[in-house]
Amino acid sequence: MTAPPFTSHAVAFPDGFTWGSATAAHQVEGGNWNNDWWEWEHRPGTRCVEPSGDACDHFHRYPQDIATLASFGFDNYRFSVEWSRVEPEDGEFSISALDHYRRMVETCRENGVVPVVTLHHFTTPRWVTESGGWINGSTADLFGRYSERVARHLGDGVGRWCTINEPNMVSTIGYLLGEFPPGRTDRFLRAKCNEVFVSAHRKARDAVKSVSSAPLGITLAMQEFLLDAPDSERHQAEAKRDSAWAGLEDPFFEVARGDDFFGVQTYTRQYFSATGRVKPAPDTRVTMMGYEFSPEALEGCIRRAWERTDHVPILVTENGIATTDDSERIEYVHGALEGVLRCLKDGIDVRGYTYWSLLDNFEWVFGYRPTFGLIGVDRSTQQRVPKPSARWLGQVAQANALLPIQ
Ligand code: BGC
Repeated sequence: MTAPPFTSHAVAFPDGFTWGSATAAHQVEGGNWNNDWWEWEHRPGTRCVEPSGDACDHFHRYPQDIATLASFGFDNYRFSVEWSRVEPEDGEFSISALDHYRRMVETCRENGVVPVVTLHHFTTPRWVTESGGWINGSTADLFGRYSERVARHLGDGVGRWCTINEPNMVSTIGYLLGEFPPGRTDRFLRAKCNEVFVSAHRKARDAVKSVSSAPLGITLAMQEFLLDAPDSERHQAEAKRDSAWAGLEDPFFEVARGDDFFGVQTYTRQYFSATGRVKPAPDTRVTMMGYEFSPEALEGCIRRAWERTDHVPILVTENGIATTDDSERIEYVHGALEGVLRCLKDGIDVRGYTYWSLLDNFEWVFGYRPTFGLIGVDRSTQQRVPKPSARWLGQVAQANALLPIQ
């Protein structure tokens, strides 16, 4: 495998800047039948193209995957704990599942990798959804109880905690657009869901902090929103954009002000006119997800998060591209990192960059077709094939500098 050659004009990141890659339990582990997503994948009439099944069998193959991540030169691995394994029924905790995640933490450490543990990444145990899920206020208490149990069991080895991954995607896609479980389409429910998530984050933060001194934050799905309107319609376009932000992002900035970091997750940008979102022009360069190819979106989102959280340190906890052309992945990440450097130059405290995703994996309703991974996975054999971009980004991480692509 060959990585692209570099010139000597590397631009350095600050000392201590962290480099990693991420996965989520349901997208890679396999066999997570006890959560709402498994049920959704098998329910007739949803937009899911295929079930998650064995996924990448990361539940059993994590030692190999973590060793490979370390061999690239990354210093951290972000993965999630599957609540439905740890607490398969109300109040029944599985020591065997907790031990499994503790072994993952230990395996990271043995490989010189800092484990970054996410407590909730889209999936919720069936027994929780059956009692109202994320629109039932008491779910926040249940999440706090589970978080405390995980933090106590995983111990000091955890390097950073992410409480909830993109709560705004669960609330928007699951409760407003109806395309994620529970398939509701009601903006009041979305608002209620956001409220419960804010409270769940607070409870998890208190619970984790009572037993762990590791830094903690929440992560948010962000898109750069730009205006596409003549001056005469600018105010209307701004109003449309602000109303989109109000539902999607704004509910989560204030609660993050008490956190150690804020997780920015960005894939693309969108434009607003006086009448709302503007569809990309037919000749727009798009990714396999149909998103506009816009690595520069990350910079705009970091700036907004920094401002809106009143300067909570930023960690890029997800950024990446689904493509079959791996050189496009390098181009994308290179462009995104140029934006990170501009933010750093302006004094924004960005602490690290995490590529989504380590493996080609289960992309929710889209199934296994979109390939975000630094490592390809042949699901008929579970064979892993690292891509050149993995070596390239690993070299960037090792140099702690943005090595130019030629
Ligand atoms: C989610 C991931 C997902 C990725 C790419 C993020 O919204 O956290 O689970 O795979 O985006 O779509």
